[in-house]
Amino acid sequence: MSSLKGKHIVLGITGGIAAYKSAMLLRLLIKRGAEVQVVMTPAAKEFITPVTLSALSGKPVVSEFFTANTGEWHSHVDLGLWADLMIVAPATASTLGKMANGIADNMLVTTYLSAKEHVMVAPAMDLDMYASSSTRRNLATLASDGVEIIEAAEGELASHLVGKGRMAEPEEIVARVDRFFSRSGEMSGMKVALTLGPTYEKLDPVRFIGNYSSGKMGCAIAEECASRGAEVTAICGPVSVYPSHPNIRVVKVESAAEMHAEAMKEFPLCDIGILTAAVADFRPETCAGHKIKRENDEEMTIRLVRNPDIAAGVGAKKKEGQTLVGFALETDNAFANAERKLERKNLDMIVLNSLADKGAGFRTDTNKVTIFSRGGGKREYPLKSKREVAADIADAIVEYREKRQTDLE
Ligand code: CTP
Repeated sequence: MSSLKGKHIVLGITGGIAAYKSAMLLRLLIKRGAEVQVVMTPAAKEFITPVTLSALSGKPVVSEFFTANTGEWHSHVDLGLWADLMIVAPATASTLGKMANGIADNMLVTTYLSAKEHVMVAPAMDLDMYASSSTRRNLATLASDGVEIIEAAEGELASHLVGKGRMAEPEEIVARVDRFFSRSGEMSGMKVALTLGPTYEKLDPVRFIGNYSSGKMGCAIAEECASRGAEVTAICGPVSVYPSHPNIRVVKVESAAEMHAEAMKEFPLCDIGILTAAVADFRPETCAGHKIKRENDEEMTIRLVRNPDIAAGVGAKKKEGQTLVGFALETDNAFANAERKLERKNLDMIVLNSLADKGAGFRTDTNKVTIFSRGGGKREYPLKSKREVAADIADAIVEYREKRQTDLE
């Protein structure tokens, strides 16, 4: 494990039995060199005393918005800016609900809302609460907001019932912290170009041919690469949410032709090119200059012509040292089709999501992928949030590039 020296961590502790484990977590973080500021909810103090935590962290614990006897104001904004990472462990059902919905009635939730960097939560609660649809919904919201969920483990709970709801062990949380910091500079100095979202192919001034892509997977990958230090250019089709990070430059396009033109400008400049867009393969041959009228027609025929294949276009111009990653969305013969596309488009890797898998593909917050690499590598992953899938894809890209580098040496 690498050192956490110089890292600023806010440790949020909420009111659950597992709060006693937070003392151990705090100790491990401090031993590894991190500077830790503890923020407790009022309920957490019923489970563990602030004295223990301030002694371990070497800093006064923050819990209220101000100190009662002096009136000293504690700024959650400053804390949010100070933190390189915020961990909420244990996170109760109530705090998860407040975080997911912006109910800022305590210092911990206001600090979360002000946090600029990565946030992890380690839930702990009784098994029925953990499985309840409201907790599931809140966790899904937090995951899609970019929060890393450290799922609870199975075991005996405070209620003596046995099931899923135990907070992850402090060692596991520290391993996740370590992974986060070791990844954070992994792509620095690299340029990433990415296509995302659908394309709209105009029929007339008010109608188009499009598809159901939300661009969520592409946004998650763009943000993941940016958080690892890459300089990202995201060429985005019409989506409702664009990727957001200081390292991301967004280029907005509408049609496949516009996306193609931008990609042919941007991809030659990148180290890593990722083609996540669901590009329309065909467009109407002509676009009417006025709204097409129904009049007395019983039928209408639209003649379509082929759009450029952006992936194949950038693949044909791939340079030494560039890594190109495509996506394949398949309904049948998925593996064979994905491997064929990898070859045909001259890609290095292809991420397959099969529409046959529940929870995978368009308009979901989850995805289940298999990643194929040039040279025959194939890795299947379980169903995960798109954010976690993005991290797996980024890991696979980094691993592929490192392997290529050592093969060359
Ligand atoms: N792609 C692209 N430009 C296109 C079509 C696809 O850049 N005109 C890219 C997608 O972004 C994806 C990969 O190619 O990374 C595969 O896309 P997919 O739609 O699965 O494949 P197609 O080549 O369109 O083949 P088919 O529709 O026959 O499955």
